Amino acid sequence: MEKILKTLTELYGPSGEEETVREKILELVGKRADSTFTDQLGNLFVLFRGNAPKILISAHMDEIGIIVTNIDENGFLRLAPLGGLSPSILTGQRLRFKSGLIGLVYHEKINDLKELTWPKLYLDIGQKSRSEAEKVVAIGDLACFDQPFVSVPGSRFLAKAMDNRAGCAVLVETISGLKRPLPQEVCFVFSVQEELGLRGAKTAAFGYEPDYGLAVDVTRVGDTPKADNMAVSLGLGPAIKVKDSSVITHPLIRRFMVDQAKNLNIDYQLEVLERGGTDAGAIHLSRAGVPSGALSIPCRYVHTPSEMVDSADLENAVNLLSGLLRVPWPAVTEGHL
Ligand code: CO
Ligand code: ZN
Repeated sequence: MEKILKTLTELYGPSGEEETVREKILELVGKRADSTFTDQLGNLFVLFRGNAPKILISAHMDEIGIIVTNIDENGFLRLAPLGGLSPSILTGQRLRFKSGLIGLVYHEKINDLKELTWPKLYLDIGQKSRSEAEKVVAIGDLACFDQPFVSVPGSRFLAKAMDNRAGCAVLVETISGLKRPLPQEVCFVFSVQEELGLRGAKTAAFGYEPDYGLAVDVTRVGDTPKADNMAVSLGLGPAIKVKDSSVITHPLIRRFMVDQAKNLNIDYQLEVLERGGTDAGAIHLSRAGVPSGALSIPCRYVHTPSEMVDSADLENAVNLLSGLLRVPWPAVTEGHL
């Protein structure tokens, strides 16, 4: 798990340029599936055929990043966010372009931190003029954080893009341990552009027409000094989502997940995330509605260059997801909650 997580988190993959991540995941799991395919948006589907119903398990491949909006006469770049990023988090950070080019984010003179807004930020790529800069970047180029994966003493990992390569790693591990025959059809989708508004999951659900949806993604925690009030902590088990800004987990799916966690003796937490969404938000609104839920990996410092997860939560997320796929999913009939 650690090796896969290191590999995946260190890859470049801001929303819209997920191809490096997609190729690596395909290499890791492609041979195990009945078929793999990519849709027009770039979602990667990894299909295990079976009888009805059809379950779609989604983890987004993209990470937050920036897009270059302007290059000035002195070769400094201006930026806009791709996903939920704050200027104060970005200041002083190195960013990496797909080409490997590295730049440093800094800001114009300000008198107060409150003045630190996007128009004040610039990216210094060490070029002396616009024409020099234009040889190595163009308007519209994307960049993401440049940070190595770190395993700290104990059980925790730090990396950029834990959101959501941690989820991708959980899917990869689950796929690797999947035992056939499966009681129903399962399609794993490694989705694109989640950070821009669950875009990949929307076309994935439209295309695959699942009977159930499940997103695997990170969630925030409330266990750091004077954090927002949130009943999820690092290391106390994967979280079963009850609600976020994009979805209310179908009660039947929530109960099914809780029951399976209890049956398997896996510690779990219940998650109510007040701000933020996930792929389940798009999946459950497809067609006439798809009963959906989410399995969340507790994560500190979401959307910063160093997001922290606990290895026990990752292992148990794999155990719980694997357990969920070994049994038939409950029938959802109209009005049956
Ligand atoms: Co995110
Ligand atoms: Zn995410």
